[in-house]
Amino acid sequence: MNVRDSEVIAGLLNKAGYKIVDTEKKADAVIFNTCSVRQHAEERVWSAIGRLKPDVLNSKPKIIGLVGCMAQAYKEKAFEKAGNIDFVAGPQDIHKIPRILEGLINSKVQNPKLFEKKIWETAGSIRPEEIYHSGYRQEKNHAYVVISEGCENFCSYCIVPYVRGPLRHRDYKDILKEIKQAVDSGITKITLLGQNVNTYQCGNVDFVNFVERVNSVKGLEAFGFITSHPKDTTLDLFKALANCERFNKYLHLPVQSGSDRILKLMNRGYTREFYLNLVEGYRKIIKKGSLSTDIIVGFPSETEADFQQTYDLVRRVEFDKAYIFKYSVRPNTKAAEFVDDVEKREKERRHQLILDLQKSISKAKNAKKDI
Ligand code: 5AD
Ligand code: SF4
Repeated sequence: MNVRDSEVIAGLLNKAGYKIVDTEKKADAVIFNTCSVRQHAEERVWSAIGRLKPDVLNSKPKIIGLVGCMAQAYKEKAFEKAGNIDFVAGPQDIHKIPRILEGLINSKVQNPKLFEKKIWETAGSIRPEEIYHSGYRQEKNHAYVVISEGCENFCSYCIVPYVRGPLRHRDYKDILKEIKQAVDSGITKITLLGQNVNTYQCGNVDFVNFVERVNSVKGLEAFGFITSHPKDTTLDLFKALANCERFNKYLHLPVQSGSDRILKLMNRGYTREFYLNLVEGYRKIIKKGSLSTDIIVGFPSETEADFQQTYDLVRRVEFDKAYIFKYSVRPNTKAAEFVDDVEKREKERRHQLILDLQKSISKAKNAKKDI
């Protein structure tokens, strides 16, 4: 989602007459599009901003912007955390960036010494549809296409609903128009994006109906989507996808934990058994389909027995790929009220154990493919 948001921002800036350069030294403005999902991601941004010392910011009217989820989470407090930031814009305010820049550049050029202005825009709620149509893309053959913004699942560990706002779906006609434009410009592969694509709804068009429409776009060779929430993923979707010859046969289905007790505390809305049945259905219906997942280890109160349930699930399912994360507290979330009681070293141990397990599964799978 952030990769696509960065393209959208670059597209808007291009349209406003700015040029994207390849190094910070050459740039008049440096914009950090940021992620808040884990603490580690945030720490990396603060240190990258810290590295932009005045010697890097030579004589030009340099401007530093913090945009995206961290901007929304910190708002004006971002200026206290990093004094060299000039502006802050949340994910629902990215369309305002060209205007903010213009104002800042003018005031810096006119009055560089007196420049003290700080701007923050974090009250936006809707993104104008046109921002998705600038045509700016990083890749030649593949395009990310946003189908819905925001999320209101409120998984207890997750900051996304607080920074990206409630769920909104783009109109399917606009999305199809964007896809057709992309295909006309040489794109052959599409990844549809949403925090929970399965709940897509626009009038009578739901996700199943929508993927069938995408499948029939002329000139498109392959499409996929991320991310699917297990609670909203149905066998009907898999059956429809089995008839979509352009579906790339890849499903990202984050399980987060294999323990029912932890899944409940996470507010995920499904059980281990439900998840395992869904995987079984996927594999039966989508022949040779690949499957990946996200896992959090060390969620508050996770015991060794809970962890073993996750370990066992990973062993049983044999994912093609698993992204494994150590739990970190996120402000405002429900889980922030729980005691973060799994020690750092224990989180690291559990993290490593699943990494090793997944590594051996991937190795065995690759060996089978080679035969
Ligand atoms: N701590 C650790 N991992 C998290 N994720 C989301 N929130 C947290 C958190 N507080 C992980 C989930 C999600 C992925 C994008 O990031 O596994 O699916
Ligand atoms: Fe976060 Fe859950 Fe929404 Fe995913 S579905 S973005 S984990 S709240």
